Amino acid sequence: MGCRQCEGAESFFSGFWVKRELRSYQRSGPRKTTRWLIDAIKARGVEGATLLDIGGGVGAIQHELLESGAGRATGADAASAYLELVEQEAERRGHRDRMTQRHGDFVELADDLAPADIVTLDRVICCYHDFESLVDRSTAKARRLYGLVYPRYTWLTRAGNRFLNVFLWLIRNPFRVFTHPTHAVDAMIRDSGFQRIYHANTLTWQVVLYER
Ligand SMILES: C[S@@+](CC[C@H](N)C(=O)[O-])C[C@H]1O[C@@H](n2cnc3c(N)ncnc32)[C@H](O)[C@@H]1O
Repeated sequence: MGCRQCEGAESFFSGFWVKRELRSYQRSGPRKTTRWLIDAIKARGVEGATLLDIGGGVGAIQHELLESGAGRATGADAASAYLELVEQEAERRGHRDRMTQRHGDFVELADDLAPADIVTLDRVICCYHDFESLVDRSTAKARRLYGLVYPRYTWLTRAGNRFLNVFLWLIRNPFRVFTHPTHAVDAMIRDSGFQRIYHANTLTWQVVLYER
């Protein structure tokens, strides 16, 4: 990977923590905001649909949508530890043959990836420095639905992410987190031909679904 941020993701999302995340997903299902996004997508119909899940982590969206009737899923993640866990979990659940995993920076991989009916980025925009390229290349892949979970643009999230970045700097990890302005992200997606059909907030996160 040519991207320093993605190299940081490879070392940040690894080892004990990612395994713990999978155990938590197996025990309790998707976290609240992921569940909201999945439910909003399912409400628009997923039967036979293809999914491209960018930065999918343990693959909650892929597993849940495949089990709800989606046809095929592709995951693209900069962290190889997650991809192994997605495949293990898919094997256990019996849908390994309906998914493909790609390792790397989605922005670099995009030319090689087929468009999908549904594209999701759950807590991914905040892990990438160049949101314009990420949004531009990912909206171009979405035929019908485009779903995101990303931080609200408030003093609280900006301060929290600054604090986390100081910690990352102290432990000499090149990975950084970003609070990209909501109005800029939203404007780019709308300019790509989408309208917003679902929006929900927690104190720090927003869950948004767009339709083309
Ligand atoms: C905070 S984790 C979120 C994982 C999962 N979606 C969730 O919500 O639990 C961010 C994920 O995005 C991935 N990621 C960030 N930027 C990426 C990029 N440009 N291409 C591919 N994956 C990326 C990271 O490797 C990591 O797996």
